[in-house]
Amino acid sequence: MCGIVGYVGPRQALDVIVEGLRRMEYRGYDSAGVAIVTPVGDAGSAELQVAKKAGRIENLDKELAGRDITGTTGIGHTRWATHGAPNDRNAHPHVGGSGRIAVVHNGIIENFSVLRAHLESTGVEFSSDTDTEVVAHLVARELDNGRGLGDALRATCRELEGAFTLVVVDREHPDEVVAARRNSPLVVGVGEGEMFLGSDVAAFIEFTRHAVELGQDQIIEITADAYRITDFDGIEVDGKPFEINWDLAAAEKGGYEYFMLKEIEEQPAAVADTLRGHLVGSEIILDEQRLDKQELRDVDKVFVVACGTAYHSGLLAKYAIEHWTRIPVEVEMASEFRYRDPVLDRQTLVVAISQSGETADTLEAVRHARDQKAKVLAICNTNGAQIPRESDAVLYTHAGPEIGVAATKTFSAQLAAVQLVGLALAQARGTKYGDEIVAEYNALAAMPEAISRTLGMMDEVHDLGREIASSKAVLFLGRHVGFPVALEGALKLKELAYMHAEGFPAGELKHGPIALIEDGLPVVVVMPSPLGRPLLHQKMLSNIAEITARGARTIVIAEAGDEQARKHAAHLIEVPATPTLLAPFVTTIPMQILSAEIALARGCDIDKPRNLAKSVTVE
Ligand code: F6R
Repeated sequence: MCGIVGYVGPRQALDVIVEGLRRMEYRGYDSAGVAIVTPVGDAGSAELQVAKKAGRIENLDKELAGRDITGTTGIGHTRWATHGAPNDRNAHPHVGGSGRIAVVHNGIIENFSVLRAHLESTGVEFSSDTDTEVVAHLVARELDNGRGLGDALRATCRELEGAFTLVVVDREHPDEVVAARRNSPLVVGVGEGEMFLGSDVAAFIEFTRHAVELGQDQIIEITADAYRITDFDGIEVDGKPFEINWDLAAAEKGGYEYFMLKEIEEQPAAVADTLRGHLVGSEIILDEQRLDKQELRDVDKVFVVACGTAYHSGLLAKYAIEHWTRIPVEVEMASEFRYRDPVLDRQTLVVAISQSGETADTLEAVRHARDQKAKVLAICNTNGAQIPRESDAVLYTHAGPEIGVAATKTFSAQLAAVQLVGLALAQARGTKYGDEIVAEYNALAAMPEAISRTLGMMDEVHDLGREIASSKAVLFLGRHVGFPVALEGALKLKELAYMHAEGFPAGELKHGPIALIEDGLPVVVVMPSPLGRPLLHQKMLSNIAEITARGARTIVIAEAGDEQARKHAAHLIEVPATPTLLAPFVTTIPMQILSAEIALARGCDIDKPRNLAKSVTVE
């Protein structure tokens, strides 16, 4: 939710920042802007040059064309609007102190209206509708009071409520950038004689692999050669250095027209990398475990909390965990969880699933769970993000950076991770013997290959997507593990193609939704395995017959060789046979491809769907 970049060093800051913004654009694309500190004359004085434009970075590029913006210190922002419409006026950076300083912000300043009213009462004039602008004026006021730049930001942060990453430049401190972090991401890139700031490491991966993670309520002051981290009261603290272990190619399109299409193809590797190293002997190992074995053994109830696509992998976690451990599992949308006062105690395990590790709803659910003394296990794709930091145990998915806003490879990686968590709990509870764990793990380890084969079977799905692109809606049906896959298929289609799409358990259809079926309506059906779930398979055939009789155009995803499905389907999409619990690894693939094709045929940008951003750091 908003991407942020900062730079101090020998390079032209504008180039570094605009490039960094392109990599951050997945976080928001309502507007983009930069502020560069440009030296004037020889006396060390400087001015701020600000350029900003509503819309995507191409619009900013046009705005910058023909302008001569030089300088080696600067900041940039790409916005997902919260307060104030997505127009030029509300685009970041915002300036204060009559153009002395510029600020970019990710998050929400919850007490901004009180602060704004106070500033206005002292004669400050606002030029935007954003919450961010109060920060610009507050920092400027503190500088006017004689504070240094770091001190001015610290004093300002002490007045702010809410979530924020703030990055500030000041023409009076031309070789410095300061930044603050509370409940919103910020990482520091440490180069040779240059420093970078970014919402994530992709902002500067081209230049350095050395990074430092900031903790909560911390301020960083960077110059080209050094950084200093303090808390909001000015007490020095240590940052947490780490090395970036993926390369630039992972954050580039590599010949694909869209990141999403590349990321779909990367799913075998995402699953293989997520599984790698987690079976040692016959034991499943998590990445971080601050819980002792007894605490895991004592777990008698599990809640899975997550949002969007991660919620769908959470629904699948329920099948795995309950099947292997017989511990009851509830799966809940993180945005609802804490507001209904769930029953939690020391023996409850909350599994929080989040690709970004910074989704505000999920983070708050984690905090609520911990307040109630429950244990938290995070599944996350972002090393060191806030959710894993605040959890008792962590299993990282290793899908690499996912730039396309719609989750694809991180979903597959989460499918692997929830299986591992199920096995780890079964092992802790003693409901599975070591050799059974090894057998289940080996079945999982076959999934990358099964996904690769599936990807090679999708030619007709591309054609079919284009064929049904003008439909007014699409329904998705599934049973058992096919139901979360149906939900995920519907979500992908909604977000990518802006089409009405709903996922239902097939058995639920006759209780109402069947009224939606009309002549020619495409209905995607995820077929259970004829051998693995024969009863459900039969029932699904009946469901297909019911909707076919009412005019539906059925698109049936079924195991290769399922002849009955072939007879019933208007279109059959075959996928390789897998053990029942693992079928979502392969049945999800045609959903992703179908949605992408439909969206492309409708002229949509599948990497940056309208109104969305990759990570949602506001509730
Ligand atoms: C859908 C999608 C979103 C995210 C959701 C949670 O394609 O990407 O629904 O799954 O916003 O995000 P994370 O996993 O970062 O918590």
